[in-house]
Amino acid sequence: MKTIIEPFRIKSVEPIRFTSEQERRALLEEAGHNVFLLKADDVTIDLLTDSGTSAMSAKQWAGIMEGDESYAGSRSFFRFENKVREITGMKYIIPTHQGRAAEKILATVMGGPGKFFVSNTHFDTTRGNIEFSGAEAFDFLTDEGKRPEVKAPFKGNMNVPALEAFIKEKGAKNIPLCLLTVTNNSGGGQPVSMQNVRETQAICRKYGIPFFIDACRFAENAWFIKTREKGYENKPVLEIAQEMFSYADGVTMSAKKDAFVNIGGFLALNDTELAEKSRNVLIVTEGFPTYGGLAGRDLEAIAQGLEEIVDEDYLRYRIRTIEYLGEKMTAAGVPFLEPAGGHAIYIDARRFVPNISPEHFPAQSVTAELYATGGVRAVEIGSVMFGKRDAAGKHIAPPMELVRMAIPRRVYTQSHMDYVAEVVEEVFQKRNELQGYKFTYEAPILRHFTARFAKLT
Ligand code: F0G
Repeated sequence: MKTIIEPFRIKSVEPIRFTSEQERRALLEEAGHNVFLLKADDVTIDLLTDSGTSAMSAKQWAGIMEGDESYAGSRSFFRFENKVREITGMKYIIPTHQGRAAEKILATVMGGPGKFFVSNTHFDTTRGNIEFSGAEAFDFLTDEGKRPEVKAPFKGNMNVPALEAFIKEKGAKNIPLCLLTVTNNSGGGQPVSMQNVRETQAICRKYGIPFFIDACRFAENAWFIKTREKGYENKPVLEIAQEMFSYADGVTMSAKKDAFVNIGGFLALNDTELAEKSRNVLIVTEGFPTYGGLAGRDLEAIAQGLEEIVDEDYLRYRIRTIEYLGEKMTAAGVPFLEPAGGHAIYIDARRFVPNISPEHFPAQSVTAELYATGGVRAVEIGSVMFGKRDAAGKHIAPPMELVRMAIPRRVYTQSHMDYVAEVVEEVFQKRNELQGYKFTYEAPILRHFTARFAKLT
């Protein structure tokens, strides 16, 4: 088989700034060893997130000029609405400025004290919006999804029996929404099978619970279904996505992922009353229903991006990129969450630096060293982000200590990936020299964004 090449030519480029290791160590020190506090210009390869970091196509940029900025009834809205409807099949399409704005609307309309939201895994902003409303959020991820070393095709699946047991325990009337995240970002970018979508929907239907899909990475999920699930080999990705959404009562999406835009999102649903309530919240928080929190040009770019994302030559290359980086990790003996996800490689820091205990932030240590060694910026998803303290102040570690290297769409080439692999390998070779960290500053909520650290010696 020949190399799977980038299915695009490059028309416009941005320079990358190179720094020396000595400079980077000083910059890191200044940033309190927190890569969120670095200037992006000081980063060589930025794998902090795949969200809002995509390269837009020439047609998307053309759409930016084409955008109709009318306050009401903009032509760009109708193009956007048609495209979202074609893919999701939903009746009501509500634009929002990004994914969490759609989540905020749902949590406002459906949440409140005494309510329980259920998911395979709620993304942190989704959980945040639910908890902010006074409701609670519960995750029911399949057991294999919690074990980084287990290779299985659909580690993002919902644990359907556990979900049903929970519904029986809490009572269906107290559960306003079941939200299935495809692919499961917080659990390693792992896909959900069509069979699992169907089974989850069946349980929701049985108990009369609305079933929604968090569709940030729906096309990547559809590609995994095509290549891993029996019966879908010959089905076009667009039709797979359409089938997936046909089981749902609604969709939330951050268009910053699988619509290749730098900002945007939507809420799509079928229920008339829920759509009315949602639009009322939209008007006070986001904007008029034909633009949400967006400019007409953004709607145009989303519509075009959604057209491009289901291109199978693109998806083959996209998923292959992550898999390729995964193969390099395997060859170097670097432990990571397997199999490779749809948008990122998640290094397993527990096994990478087993000598650093969770309360000394192993994944933070690896993240800082990736930057110092090669200017690669990843993100800690472990004890810094999700750690808690018990009443006595003792650290409670989350189930996994991960370092996510998320790959922006259409931005980096294969040689960038080779470089990233070399940097990870170099850090892995000196893993016994890596040290733990402690906080020197810690905010009361979402501390990972602003925390400052000191190295333990
Ligand atoms: N749902 C999932 C699964 C996500 O990954 C994100 C964002 C959101 C919802 C919220 O969307 O950012 O547009 O408000 N994930 C980004 C990330 C931030 O880096 O994984 P948003």
